Parts: sequence; C-alpha cells; structure tokens
Amino acid sequence: MDLRKKIEELKHQKRAIILAHYYTNSEVQQVADFVGDSLALSQKAAEAECDIILFAGVRFMAETAKVLSPEKKVLLPVVEAGCSLADSCDAEELRKAREENPDHIVVSYVNTSVEVKALTDICCTSSNALDIINALPQEQEILFVPDRNLGSYINRCTGRSMKLWNGACLVHEEFSAEKIKALKVQHPEAVVLVHPECKAEVVALADYAGSTAGILAYCARPEVREVIVVTESGILYEMESRHPDKKFYLVEPENGCEKCVSCKDMKYVTLENIYQTLLDESPEVEIEESIRTAAAGSITRMLEMSK
Ligand code: 13P
Ligand code: SF4
Repeated sequence: MDLRKKIEELKHQKRAIILAHYYTNSEVQQVADFVGDSLALSQKAAEAECDIILFAGVRFMAETAKVLSPEKKVLLPVVEAGCSLADSCDAEELRKAREENPDHIVVSYVNTSVEVKALTDICCTSSNALDIINALPQEQEILFVPDRNLGSYINRCTGRSMKLWNGACLVHEEFSAEKIKALKVQHPEAVVLVHPECKAEVVALADYAGSTAGILAYCARPEVREVIVVTESGILYEMESRHPDKKFYLVEPENGCEKCVSCKDMKYVTLENIYQTLLDESPEVEIEESIRTAAAGSITRMLEMSK
C-alpha cells in the first residue's frame, strides 16, 4: 500500500494528528493536518483534540507541544532534529545572566530549549514579538534571548534598548545583502520578503520582514507578482501551491553552497520516518514535570497576549 495511505490509516486508528512547519519537505507538508509558523503550531498543539501529536519539525517545537498538551503523546520522528538558534542559549548561562541582571525580565524567542523557557518570563515568536515587547511598560528592562538579529530588529522598531543574547540562526545568517541587491537588479519589480532572523543589513532591504506566516500573507497581496524570498527554501512549496501564477526567487547563499538556505534539521522528517514513528509511537518527547510547568508559564503568557 502507498505510504501516504498507510500514514492516513495509522492517524485514524490512533487518533493522531501531524503538525508540520513550512520548512519541512513538501511530501511531509502534504500529509500534515496543519502546516504553520511557530505561533500557529503552538496554538494548534494547545487546542488539538487527539491522543497523539506527531511533530514534523524540530525539537523546540515538539517540546512546546508537549508543554501545552502534557496528557497527549508527542512524537518527534528524529531526535537529533535541533536548531542552531536554540543551541546558542544554554540554560545554566541564562540562569547566571538572570542573577547578574535582577532588574531585567527575560523574553525568549520560542526557538529555545524547554529548560531555557523554564527560566523565561514571556516567550515570543517572530509573529508576535513586536506586540509582546510593545505591551511591556517602557521603563521595564528586558533581556532578549537568544536571537541577536531578531532582538536588534525589535530594538530598531520599538526604540527600546533591550539587552541581547549573542545567538543566531546559522541558516538565516547566510543571507547576504549583496546577493539580494544583485537579484533585485535582475528582477526590479520583485518585493523582498525577509525573516527577521537575518542580519540587520539584510532586513534593511526588506519590503516586509516577519514570520513565515507573515511572509506568506504578504505574497497574497494582489499587487505582489514577483517575490525575492529571504528565508528557508522549504517555504517555496506553500508559496507556489497558493500562487502558481506568481514568481518566487530564492537567494543563493553567500558562500555558494546550495544547501545553506536549507535547514538540515527541518529536512530530517520523511514519509518513511513518519510512518515508522506512528507505528512504534516512538520516539516520544518527555519533559520532567517541574521544568514543564515552569516553561508552561512563559508560553501561556505569550498565548494569552497573542489572542
Ligand atoms: P516562524 O515562527 O516564522 O515560522 O520561524 C520559525 C523558524 O525556525 C525560523 O527559522
Ligand atoms: Fe532553527 Fe534556523 Fe532551522 Fe529555524 S531555520 S529551525 S532558527 S536552525
């Protein structure tokens, strides 16, 4: 039997759903019950009526689902699926930074480990980061963790001077302003849509900067006919499916390596390992209860503020 059919049967038998990020392989997005950005995926995980959530994405996303739905089994097909940004903030280092900055509250991008979320006051995603920071009193001191690029973008947009952790996404740091300018010369009518995990000089070229869902929403504008895509290449599947009549141009990475605009961790998930994971109900995400409840506070605060 076709693997997709077998996956559908298993989902039905086990009351399982598949949540997938826009960066995963196209065949994975096709078997998902819901595809979205980090914020929408966490909202879905919180409200899903099912016994099992299979997370097609990376570890921090599956952990967020488990934090919000402890009674459900959360499966992550490949345990090694991590995130360079999440890896750039170690929980012990954050604990020390909190002690050294007692007047600061900690706002963490969701691309962090569950241990870091447990030490966080409020989480945010690239969809709601500006709203969350703007909702905090102007005089409140903030330590923003871990993305220095998203953090400096927020500082520029809000006029704040949040203290920034020195972390970055190795995929988004690859985009260079020169390559984008060169593409713009070839396609002068194209709009430049950028994820705010990119460096400041890249974000400065954007007609729009925002989350993957925000970028997709911008593509739907009727006046937009051509797009220079400055984020991970997996998003192209959704862009081209929604807008077969529009043109999308990917930016070549600075060092010329074709794979660099691709997040290797997001590509670990395949139809084969989805099937096997559903069959075995393993690997399962497990989180120690005191860490889970502490992390739930920071994520729930974000979800409440995003309603
Ligand atoms: P979004 O929340 O915009 O989907 O971003 C997630 C991510 O990992 C970007 O690299
Ligand atoms: Fe993490 Fe970057 Fe991959 Fe997003 S693209 S999951 S931030 S490594």
